[in-house]
Amino acid sequence: MQRQETAEVQIIKLLKTGPSYVSGQDLSAALGISRTAVWKHIKALRQAGYSIEAVPSKGYRLKAKSIFNGIEIASSLKTEFIGKKIFYYPEINSTNVKAFELGRAGEPEGTAVIADSQSSGKGRIGRKWESPPGVNLYTSILLRPEVVPQNAHNLTFVTAVAAAETVAEFSGMKPTVKWPNDILLGGKKTAGILMEMDSEADRVHFVIAGIGVNVNMRQAELPEAIKNIATSIAEVKGEEVDRAGFARGLFTSMEKWYKRYLISGFDPIMEAWKGFFDTIGRPVKVTSFSKIIEGVCSGVDRDGALLVNLPDGKTERVISGDVETVR
Ligand code: BTN
Repeated sequence: MQRQETAEVQIIKLLKTGPSYVSGQDLSAALGISRTAVWKHIKALRQAGYSIEAVPSKGYRLKAKSIFNGIEIASSLKTEFIGKKIFYYPEINSTNVKAFELGRAGEPEGTAVIADSQSSGKGRIGRKWESPPGVNLYTSILLRPEVVPQNAHNLTFVTAVAAAETVAEFSGMKPTVKWPNDILLGGKKTAGILMEMDSEADRVHFVIAGIGVNVNMRQAELPEAIKNIATSIAEVKGEEVDRAGFARGLFTSMEKWYKRYLISGFDPIMEAWKGFFDTIGRPVKVTSFSKIIEGVCSGVDRDGALLVNLPDGKTERVISGDVETVR
C-alpha cells in the first residue's frame, strides 16, 4: 500500500522536477530525514519498479520508464481531494470492497483505491469484471456527498461523464455511453462503473464509485465471452496508453464534475452526459429487475431515468436495468 506524500512520493517528485542529479544531502534536507533513511527509501522505490541511478559525488537520477503504482500516480497529481490519499495494491480481491472498508473506517472523501489486478473484480448486476494484471485500470473512489439516498444515483452520471471525458482525451475518439454508465468506443465496451453506497433511510454515509477501464488490454487477451462486445483504448488507438497518466486524468475529471454537481446541481451533469448518449430513436430491450421492456428509446428525463416508448403508445420510465439496443 502506498499513500501520497510519503517520503517515497516526495523523493520521486524531487527527482522528477529537480536537476538531472539530486544529491543525497539535498534529498535528506528537503525531507528532514537522515541520508541513511534516504537510501532506504531509494531501495524501496527500486523494489517498487523505479530505475534510479546513484552516482557517487553527483547523487540520484530517475531513468524514464513507464511505471504504474500509487507513488507514480500521486507524484504528479494536481487535484484538491480526489486521489489525495491513494491505497495501491499489486493485487486485491476488489477495489470496491477495499474502498467500502475504508469508508466504514472513516477515511476522507476523495480517498482512492487502485489495483494492478483484482482476483474478484465486481461488475454490475452480480457479474464478474475481468481484471488481469499489467494492462488496465481498476479504481474505486470514496465520496461523501451530503445528499439523500434517492439522489445518490446522480453520482452514477457524474462518474460516467468523468470516465467518458477521460476516455475521449486518451483515445482521441469520442466515446458513447450506454445507459446508465457503460463507456463504449466504436460501440464496444471500454469502461464500466459500479456504484455502491452505505446509507441510512434518510442519509448517505458514503458512495463508492468503482471504475474499471480497459486501457491496454488487447483483443487477443479478452476473454472469449466478451471478445465481441468489449475493446480497449489501446486497441482502438493502435498504441499503448500510460496507465498512471490515465488514472491522473480520471481523478482530475472526476473532481471537476463532482464539484460542478455539488455547486450547480444535476442539470449540467445530465447535459454533459447527453452529449455522449446516442440511443435515442433506437429500438431497445431493457431488463429491469425481472421485467423485460421492449420499445424505442425516446431519451432520458431530468432525473436520468431511461424513457422507452412502448408499442401501445405509452412511455415507460426505467430507473434501473440493463439495456440492449436491438436491430
Ligand atoms: C460493469 O459491470 O460494467 C461495472 C464494472 C466495474 C468494474 C470496476 S473495476 C474497479 C472496481 N472494483 C470492482 O470490483 N469493480 C469496479
